Amino acid sequence: MVKAGKKILIVDDEPCICDLLENFLTLKGYGVVRAENGIRALSYVEDGDIDLVITDICMPGMNGVQLLEKIRERNSGIPVLITTGYPTFDTAIESLKLGVQDYLTKPFELRDIGEKVKRAIDRKTLQEEHILFSKLVSLHQVAHILASTLDMGELDRKFLEFSVRFARADGAALFFADAAGKLTLAARRGDDFKPDFWTRANFMLASRRVLESREPIAVTGRGNLPSGLRALPQEIGAFISFPLNSPSCTLGVLNLVRGQSGGPFSSLDIEQINVLASQASISIENVRLYHNIRDNYLKTIRAFALAVEAKDEYTHGHSENVMHYTVLIARHMGMPVHEVEQVKFAGLLHDIGKIGVSESILNKPGKLTPEEFNEIKKHPALGATIIADVPFLKPLVPLVMHHHEFYNGCGYPSGLSGTDIPLGARILSVADAYEAMTSDRPYRKSLPRSASMKVLEAQSGLQFDPGIVEIFLTVLRHTAG
Ligand SMILES: [Fe+2]
Repeated sequence: MVKAGKKILIVDDEPCICDLLENFLTLKGYGVVRAENGIRALSYVEDGDIDLVITDICMPGMNGVQLLEKIRERNSGIPVLITTGYPTFDTAIESLKLGVQDYLTKPFELRDIGEKVKRAIDRKTLQEEHILFSKLVSLHQVAHILASTLDMGELDRKFLEFSVRFARADGAALFFADAAGKLTLAARRGDDFKPDFWTRANFMLASRRVLESREPIAVTGRGNLPSGLRALPQEIGAFISFPLNSPSCTLGVLNLVRGQSGGPFSSLDIEQINVLASQASISIENVRLYHNIRDNYLKTIRAFALAVEAKDEYTHGHSENVMHYTVLIARHMGMPVHEVEQVKFAGLLHDIGKIGVSESILNKPGKLTPEEFNEIKKHPALGATIIADVPFLKPLVPLVMHHHEFYNGCGYPSGLSGTDIPLGARILSVADAYEAMTSDRPYRKSLPRSASMKVLEAQSGLQFDPGIVEIFLTVLRHTAG
């Protein structure tokens, strides 16, 4: 039984031969197209949906072996059967080198044709299924890689890299659409193609249509330009544009091109990139959602920090400054991005527990009594309790709880020492103390920068982690101000 949709291209300058083969193959259930010469045949091949070519060897203009060579130049694995009345040793060798599937000698034996055609098509189907299977496995791995990325730029780069690899494209570009549907080039790949190549009118026209219709457009070869679209640039042999569809909207489009020697994109290429584009769309939407939620959390945290600072006129901007210093230290220590983020948020939030401390104590100009100081000492634990039930802030609990511990164990609330104090809390401790020293307080004026640095040095190994002090002093010495 013939698989539905298999299309055979018959190439022969003799109409009676074409008639004979067409009638026979149509009866067998194949779809058939005919070309009277090699040039016409190539345009069918470039359209990309031919499963088998049966070509005569002796034709005016381009002969069968030259046609076979041109098909292979287009990187096409389409099986080719050659028909001839006069097989020669030389043409046989040449055709075999070019990967001819088989020979059909004239006069034809119809049963021989049926068997050879079936064998060639079966082999191609098997190869495609094998390729599809291995690519599906790879696609699954790629989907996993894309889903595990939270950095938008990195996601764009990986998506383009995989798209180019899967489609064997020479270049790729990723456009994102804004709420009004305006497309902006977000990333590109392929050294031969500069940004203005991708924003040419013909590509933008196709991209906008893909964005609106949510359907891909494929321009393979020069013969099947969809209506209303402009011709491809001369150096481009094939172009495909995919929508990045999410359930609610189309996020943008992915454009891929092959040069003139690259051949057309096959239906298999298109199918795979469609799957990849769908996976990438989900990942892109997830990353956007993640950043949206994170930004909202950050705004909430800032609001909390401001609420604390509003109680204490002297600490205005303290949390933002501490955040700035913690990020500087964490980055110079080479901490992973997500840990830098944690330290950053903890910088903003570390004193949130002061919301539960009386304003009269916080703003007292003179020395605190032991009772008052005991009240102040409650703020780390109180802050930790406030954020403990917020899932996003939970990792910050140990940092907020222990930001007043001393490296020598003489701090509060737990008297932890050395590396028992969480790293983020040790960073916070240095940043917090430096910020406090360089700011005015109700009971004293700010210390100059150099004097504050000396205090850090003097307290290195006592109040502060010496490694962190060293890094922070280095950073400060290289920073103006
Ligand atoms: Fe504090």
